[in-house]
Amino acid sequence: MSRIDELLAAMTLDEKIGQLTMVNAGMAVTGPVVTGGGTEAVRRGRIGSFLNLWGAETVHVTQRIAVEESRLRIPLFFAFDVIHGHRTTFPIPLAEAAAFDPDLWEETARAAAIEAAGDGLSIVFSPMIDVTRDPRWGRIAEGAGEDPWVTARLAEAKLRGLHGADLSAGDTVAAVAKHFCAYGAPTAGREYTSADVSERALHEVYLPPFAAAVAAGVVAIMPAFNDLAGVPMTANAPLLRGLLRQELGFDGVIISDYNAVAELINHGVAGDVAEAAALAIKAGVDIDMVARAYERGLPSAIERGLVEVTLIEEAVRRVLVLKERLGLFDDPYRRGIAGGAPGHEQRRVLGREIARRAIVLLTNAHDLLPIAEEIRRIAVVGPLAEANMLGPWAGAGRAEEAVTILEGLRSALANRDIVRAEGVSAGGDDVSGLAAAIDLCRSADLIILAVGETAAMSGEAASRADPGLPGRQRELCEAVLALSKPTVAILSCGRPLMVPWLTDRASAVLVSWFLGLEAGHAIADVVTGRFNPTGRLPVTWPRHVGQVPIYFARRPSGRPAAPTDHYTSKYIDESVTPLFPFGHGLSYTRFTLANLRAEPAALRPDGKLDIAVEVTNAGARDGQATVFLFIRDPVASVARPVLELRSFARIRLAAGACETMRWVLAASDLAFLGPDLKPRLEPGEFDIFAGESADPDRLISAKIRLTI
Ligand code: GLC
Repeated sequence: MSRIDELLAAMTLDEKIGQLTMVNAGMAVTGPVVTGGGTEAVRRGRIGSFLNLWGAETVHVTQRIAVEESRLRIPLFFAFDVIHGHRTTFPIPLAEAAAFDPDLWEETARAAAIEAAGDGLSIVFSPMIDVTRDPRWGRIAEGAGEDPWVTARLAEAKLRGLHGADLSAGDTVAAVAKHFCAYGAPTAGREYTSADVSERALHEVYLPPFAAAVAAGVVAIMPAFNDLAGVPMTANAPLLRGLLRQELGFDGVIISDYNAVAELINHGVAGDVAEAAALAIKAGVDIDMVARAYERGLPSAIERGLVEVTLIEEAVRRVLVLKERLGLFDDPYRRGIAGGAPGHEQRRVLGREIARRAIVLLTNAHDLLPIAEEIRRIAVVGPLAEANMLGPWAGAGRAEEAVTILEGLRSALANRDIVRAEGVSAGGDDVSGLAAAIDLCRSADLIILAVGETAAMSGEAASRADPGLPGRQRELCEAVLALSKPTVAILSCGRPLMVPWLTDRASAVLVSWFLGLEAGHAIADVVTGRFNPTGRLPVTWPRHVGQVPIYFARRPSGRPAAPTDHYTSKYIDESVTPLFPFGHGLSYTRFTLANLRAEPAALRPDGKLDIAVEVTNAGARDGQATVFLFIRDPVASVARPVLELRSFARIRLAAGACETMRWVLAASDLAFLGPDLKPRLEPGEFDIFAGESADPDRLISAKIRLTI
């Protein structure tokens, strides 16, 4: 009999439910305050895991109670939201996605795992792999943007980094892919509302990253708070037990989101906590996070015949298997180093590198950037210049260790005269400093506007109906722009901000997102030219919130937009084009693409397509280009998107150099979900596109034919 069989045979019902109970230890607030657990509950085997508790000493003290004082000595696991770094806070995931570099994505995950495990954690609630096309939703900050293919690659990279070579090792943690699924499509962009998406959208957009995560060996998944077409994900047996476990073969643990089991009552699908607990356990949710709904509801659910004990035992088995895979039975204290994992300073170096790579230069009129030598007096105005750049879900990051934008600029431009005024507050109506700020700007050679969102305006429960500049920041910008002086705007944000009035008029605009501990140094590296920007937008950047959702993989419509033809798909009061397309991002040099070749021109269903494109650095500085590869199936049994992303790659080129980039696509990469939502290949013509973004006017193309 295995250890797990023996434990299951020995466990009382309360101890079984205990293993399914995750309690909030409260070292961080990540949701509504719900009563926590205590050491006596651990001693009595009523708690199987904790979230929001880290630090080797605290973890080991708590673990010791479980493994030395409880009846069955089953080790706990400790979980935390390590979303973009643990102690070394890296850029938010949306910013990191802008690097379009799976190796870097893996590297930051590896660094986070080392730090998290060093603090005694064994599970982290990441990666967040919710595709979204709605900047009103605050959690757009936490994912990889609008494209399922990119998000799938990020999921794979994060799993490699977090799991390392051996999930039971002392420097690895188990990933929890979240939030399953379609959480990124909340109605009206409002947090926690219904996701009412089509079956096709579900299978083409929201599920693929989770399928990739399962194929990459994810061991835990978290259902989303939302209902999907009326069925709350926490009670969605068809998608959890059916699609996820049976179809995709996921055999890991499903951990509810925070208090989500109890919230089935609010959803209106459960009349009381026993019904809620029964629905969740029958849907396949193994661990009840924070709600203690399993503890409060399962015993009576059994008595009322709502659920069988065998279902509970199945869940317990999966939890114990996970603990075994984590090595917790072999050595419950394996994770946890007094004082945390060494190497924090080296990880800051990595933090600066990824932060630089995440910055996206949106505009740069007259090559104002990098800042020229003759620029001597620089006015840094705006409420974000000294703000916390750790962003939402900053983990164990310490704001006091972060480098602000102002600090970074002062450090990099020590020989310049840098003057500072806040001007207006980030939110609210305080404009008391506006006049003084403008006075300061009058004598400056260059004005740097540090504006945008604060961390509190981004992330969970931070939907914005009108994602422009918050508060009275626009007034500051307008007053600065009225001076008609060289002006650089730095946008700190967790989402695209709809500010065409700023990007059209400032000399240069860059997106700094929330870049983490090294934000100030990374921004200074870019504006001074020490680093040639390489970031590219992982989301389409709208002009106006009325365009949302706007994304490159749209379907063509029977009446494609034709501005001069009234009866076509357009607005009468706004353009149909984005402010900046997916993949947009300027460099201090410029690249050209030519001679796209896709061979063979006639591709067999079992064949491979060799694709090549010449990339030239036509500017005067070395730089890095990012090239995206799209396909289009112009005629198929289902209307296909006008662009479907199939790959991306980066290339570093010296000034004047030209090199050929190559890809190999399998014919199966041309497959799509037919009317029956089953994958199919259909013969016919395909367009292959290459470009530095999804801007249709700047793509080069080639045609091939798929034969049967
Ligand atoms: C939050 C989030 C989830 C997080 C969990 C634990 O509400 O939805 O992403 O992992 O609670 O903090």
